[in-house]
Amino acid sequence: MDFKRLLVTAALPYANGPVHIGHLAGCYLPADIYVRYQRARKRDILFICGSDEHGVPITIRAMKEGVTPQQVVDKYHAQIRDSFAQMGISFDIFARTSSPVHHLTSSEMFRKLYDQGIFEEKETEQYFDEKAGVFLADRYITGTCPVCSNPAAYGDQCEKCGSALSPEQLIDPRSTLSDAVPVKRKTRHWYFPLQNYEEFLKKWILEDHKEWKNNVYGQCKSWLDNGLMPRAMTRDSNWGVKVPLEGTEGKVLYVWFEAPIGYISATKELTPDWAKYWCSEDTKLVHFIGKDNIVFHCIIFPAILKAHGGFVLPDNVPANEFLNIEGEKVSTSRNWAVWVHEYVQDFAGCEDVLRYVLCANAPETKDNDFTWKDFQDRNNSELVSIFGNFVNRTFVLMHKLCGGKVPQLHSDVLDESDRTMLQEFDSTRKKIEDSIEQYRFRDALFEVMDLARKGNRYMQEKEPWIVTRTLAEKPENQKLIDNCLHVCLQLCANLAIMSNPFLPNTSRKMISMMKVVEKMLDWENAGKEKLLSPGYTLREPQLLFRKIEDTEVQQQVEKLKNRSATASTPTASPVLVPAKAYVPEYKPEIQFDDFAKIDLRVGTIISAEKVEKADKLLKLLVNMGSEERTIVSGIAMHFKPDEITGKQVVVVANLAPRKMRGIESNGMILLAEDSAGKLHFVSPESLIDPGSGVN
Ligand code: MF3
Ligand code: ZN
Repeated sequence: MDFKRLLVTAALPYANGPVHIGHLAGCYLPADIYVRYQRARKRDILFICGSDEHGVPITIRAMKEGVTPQQVVDKYHAQIRDSFAQMGISFDIFARTSSPVHHLTSSEMFRKLYDQGIFEEKETEQYFDEKAGVFLADRYITGTCPVCSNPAAYGDQCEKCGSALSPEQLIDPRSTLSDAVPVKRKTRHWYFPLQNYEEFLKKWILEDHKEWKNNVYGQCKSWLDNGLMPRAMTRDSNWGVKVPLEGTEGKVLYVWFEAPIGYISATKELTPDWAKYWCSEDTKLVHFIGKDNIVFHCIIFPAILKAHGGFVLPDNVPANEFLNIEGEKVSTSRNWAVWVHEYVQDFAGCEDVLRYVLCANAPETKDNDFTWKDFQDRNNSELVSIFGNFVNRTFVLMHKLCGGKVPQLHSDVLDESDRTMLQEFDSTRKKIEDSIEQYRFRDALFEVMDLARKGNRYMQEKEPWIVTRTLAEKPENQKLIDNCLHVCLQLCANLAIMSNPFLPNTSRKMISMMKVVEKMLDWENAGKEKLLSPGYTLREPQLLFRKIEDTEVQQQVEKLKNRSATASTPTASPVLVPAKAYVPEYKPEIQFDDFAKIDLRVGTIISAEKVEKADKLLKLLVNMGSEERTIVSGIAMHFKPDEITGKQVVVVANLAPRKMRGIESNGMILLAEDSAGKLHFVSPESLIDPGSGVN
């Protein structure tokens, strides 16, 4: 070990949607396993993540939802953070790139590179959508592929024939935002001369990091072989980190320039000691990412750090491939995904099961497939039948045959198979260590399970439940029973330690059953044969894993299929064009007193349902703080009941009650109507107490 501390990062997820299990399998789970293992080894380590809150997809999501980009990122930041926490992903910090620290850190780095004269300033022509009023990133231009005539090719790639394209090559280009024909406009940007770092990168990666995973090394090599080109580090947008130069209104830092710097700013937010981690040669930096992030983490970000100077470069970038679901690629637009926030609801208490399945089947070297059938099988025939069963049997038998205490080990009757079993502890430890250090988490987890499997076999061979019947004749046989359960209990203690990085909740349950403190989970105890002292009383066994029924997984498969069948296919929609200013016809003037009579309050919609035989009406139950009210509102054509529950709205609270379709409505909800006739709730910018007055 030639490093003093570890700095582990996991890709900052875009805060424009929830996370799915492919994210977990690709990056967050392996990172967490690695970190938990290193923490158990008492290494000095930080685990850094946060949400990536800038970039075009977020502004587009905001336009689609009719909210501000800030509202989009606030919502998803919180949701993503909670999903990770529920799955036990143990970041030391989950920061955000919209934070002031990040804005400052990234603009200072840009400024320093600028002052060193590193950027080239260039004026180019870029496609502009006059209807939406924005420059179009390549992805947002669609047209006919010049190679295969696919009419739905994108400005960066044709997904049908796989050709890499530039927007200029598209026949009949159109904006995906508004369907407008994009026009060329001049714009000025700052380019990072990546080609100047080619030699450095070739040596650093191709010669000095031959140990990187094949998929990572291979992608880097192909980029480097193809030759690097200057890349623009700024973009035209109003959402992001402002370019810290004079006269650059409407320009922000390119999200792939600033987001990786988010790792540094998050560390700054976490500890005043941040520079010790980022700026010392004896730090081992590891970036966990998915395969679509390889070039940014292995080539572009390191080149930027190198140009800037003073920062450590990654020692490894163990990127995973993709996880498909039931044989098909994950697609968020088609809603073909297993969402983490839904899983933790549907399978509360089974977080470790998902961790287990995703690790056992991780796409470490190639794309892999997640199926609910496999999920069920691995749970029922591995976690329940092997691991859970072994631990449970050991505890039950210890209570039945050894008085609920850890029995002695009697060396006079110790035989070959006892010894072999005991030796397995330490050899398993070694295999797990080697695998984890080489980022082979599947292999490591397999070793844990294999140890449990061996435990089962050992117990099957020793059959203490049979031996006990011989005690009347041969009381000395108790020693055989003792030895078996002694070995099995020490094995359980080892399983708790070794499964801890993978199955932290299970491991905690086990130490509670063994009545030992968390300290026992320190990795230095792994492989030891004497972890539990003879004579020590242990608790009754707790269920570690429950069986997963056919109906549960069938429901999941159906949910997946139904949802993707009803998911709207993304098409160009005119709704995305910001509403034009129009001249309204105002109502006649009123006096302040007239207005002051109206009592406006914030309320939270608790539930919403359609009113029978009334197409337009929704019956809402609204929490007003001190009371709950029924309000009937004519919005059923605009909102689905389940998409508005939880929303905060402004209510006219002192409006005389009115009966609509036999239901008494107590108040009215304020709505804004845009020029396209679409309704928008008038809501406080962030959640506030229901009942708050609006003046
Ligand atoms: N948001 C990117 C993604 O989800 C990852 C950004 S990683 C960072 O693909 F390094 F840029 F932060
Ligand atoms: Zn094509």
